[in-house]
Amino acid sequence: MLRLRPLTAEDRAAIAEFVMNDPDHTRTCFDREPSPADADDLLSSAAYGSGDASPALLGAFDAEGTLVGLIDWACRWPTPATGYIGLLQVRPGHRRQGVATALLAHAEEAAAAAGCRQLMLAVIARNEPARAFWERLGFQWLAPQRARRAAPLEALVMHRPVVVPQDGTRGEAQPADAALPAPAVGVPA
Ligand SMILES: CC(C)(COP(=O)(O)OP(=O)(O)OC[C@H]1O[C@@H](n2cnc3c(N)ncnc32)[C@H](O)[C@@H]1OP(=O)(O)O)[C@@H](O)C(=O)NCCC(=O)NCCS
Repeated sequence: MLRLRPLTAEDRAAIAEFVMNDPDHTRTCFDREPSPADADDLLSSAAYGSGDASPALLGAFDAEGTLVGLIDWACRWPTPATGYIGLLQVRPGHRRQGVATALLAHAEEAAAAAGCRQLMLAVIARNEPARAFWERLGFQWLAPQRARRAAPLEALVMHRPVVVPQDGTRGEAQPADAALPAPAVGVPA
């Protein structure tokens, strides 16, 4: 049983423990060790800066109340039509159980409600499991050729149209919408 709720400053210790428990992710994406201060960055949504963005941080908790996943996203950033996924992370040992899919579905619903027509993110080239996950969820490379030849630490942008849930098909691969505005360059997830 998964419980989703917004994360606040009161969850700082749980977020710090969550981040410290998965050093491989920080090493893979940022080429450094994790730090408890990473929790502050997530809570402050510093990556989005000021402007029209409305950042959000959502946690997934298991039946024991353990934080097993989180997603950080911003609606209407970096363009008014875009929902940007900053970080989607699931606790090792809780993966391949649909946690990330559930978190993404929530963010997508919020993006749709805010009038966003596309979801966008950046994935670090050498993060193969994440690449597989996003492709499975229907995301496409903004620059497919570059994605094939990227340097290991290069941030590669992926996107797909927002899929408004109607009949349980959300999350399945969808054809790209040629009418979407070209996304701007983002920051790594
Ligand atoms: C990527 C990540 C968020 C996926 O979380 P998850 O909860 O395991 O994902 P889900 O269970 O919702 O997976 C949905 C589908 O995506 C695909 N998928 C997920 N992880 C995969 C992997 N490691 N390899 C290949 N396919 C994968 C599968 O098709 C999966 O369905 P299945 O398990 O029925 O085969 C998780 O591996 C993670 O936290 N990684 C470290 C942080 C990270 O890299 N985040 C992304 C930053 S861009």
